[in-house]
Amino acid sequence: MNFGLSHTSTSLISVNKGERKTISPKNVVHLYDLAGITPLAGIQDYTEGIYDGDPSTPYDTAQTNQHNYLLDELGAGEGFRLLEVGCGLGTLLETAKERGVIGTGITISEDQVSKCKAKGLKVHLLNYKDLPDEFDKSFDGIIANGSLEHFCQPEEAMAGKQNSIYKHMFKIFAGVLDSDSDSQRVVTTAIHFRGEHIDPRKLLRNPFLQIFDPENFHFSILHRGYGGYYPIRGQLEACASGEFTLVKEVEATEDYRFSADHWREKLKKAILTNVRFIGETLRQLVKRPIHTSWVITSHVGPESWPWQFRGDNPPAMLYRHTWQRNSCRLPGNGVMQQCWSRGKEAIQIASP
Ligand SMILES: C[S@@+](CC[C@H](N)C(=O)[O-])C[C@H]1O[C@@H](n2cnc3c(N)ncnc32)[C@H](O)[C@@H]1O
Repeated sequence: MNFGLSHTSTSLISVNKGERKTISPKNVVHLYDLAGITPLAGIQDYTEGIYDGDPSTPYDTAQTNQHNYLLDELGAGEGFRLLEVGCGLGTLLETAKERGVIGTGITISEDQVSKCKAKGLKVHLLNYKDLPDEFDKSFDGIIANGSLEHFCQPEEAMAGKQNSIYKHMFKIFAGVLDSDSDSQRVVTTAIHFRGEHIDPRKLLRNPFLQIFDPENFHFSILHRGYGGYYPIRGQLEACASGEFTLVKEVEATEDYRFSADHWREKLKKAILTNVRFIGETLRQLVKRPIHTSWVITSHVGPESWPWQFRGDNPPAMLYRHTWQRNSCRLPGNGVMQQCWSRGKEAIQIASP
């Protein structure tokens, strides 16, 4: 599937029979191969859970709440064809399977693919930019739970490409939705910069040369470990507008703060007491010392990961977005058809 934006971000290589394949950013690929050791610390999910304001909610319950919320937003039940873009270790796909959903996941981490396959899940090693033709019009709904933060890199933001990357993403998402489906929804969760964008050049500068500016210091550590540049509020909506209408926005930064605190506690405990986890961490430090050190730094030490969600005005915000495909709009009658027919919600958007 090619929508003519093949040179926007990462470089491309030719593979078999003239097919082209996107090279995913190295630090993102390393991150999720490294993250393969976190199940040893009791962490299977790499996005926030839903705590309903109660930080004592057990970690696993919060994560299951999140899976159920996302699936409910799509109206995903028996026989629903779901594509999860950035499926991690496949925990959402497992919850989906329990509902009778037919789930397909993609990830750019080989380690995640093999762990998901070992769980009996259908998961492919694929960048979302390289979805094969057989995915065209093949899904009822899409979930991207914490993956789109990686889709734009600071270098691309510097080159003014962030909007075109998101527009391209929504176009790809629209292309794989079945126009006869009665859902045609996408749900995304994504960390956003609060207010304005941070200057992308600051993320590329050495954190220790900007240690007296907390925003630049922490965001440059985060980029080194995680690889990505966030959108700001409203940016995704503007980029989606040709293909999708935003039907729901939930601000859930507190949920990410509670999740990040849980991760920090679990990782600290494991690094002090869990011999296998210590051994695996040392092995990763030997394999990729610099990258692994940045990831560790972002959870313990300066704690850049939880830092971004702390305080009355946190530097980053988490939004959950539900998108309805525009093709549901009925020509001529001025209202959006209720494509999403499985739930309680009626979508009535008056046209100008
Ligand atoms: C923060 S993790 C979230 C994983 C999972 N959704 C969860 O909640 O645990 C981000 C996921 O996005 C995937 N990812 C990042 N960039 C991607 C891309 N360009 N195409 C497909 N997947 C990507 C990563 O491999 C990883 O599985």
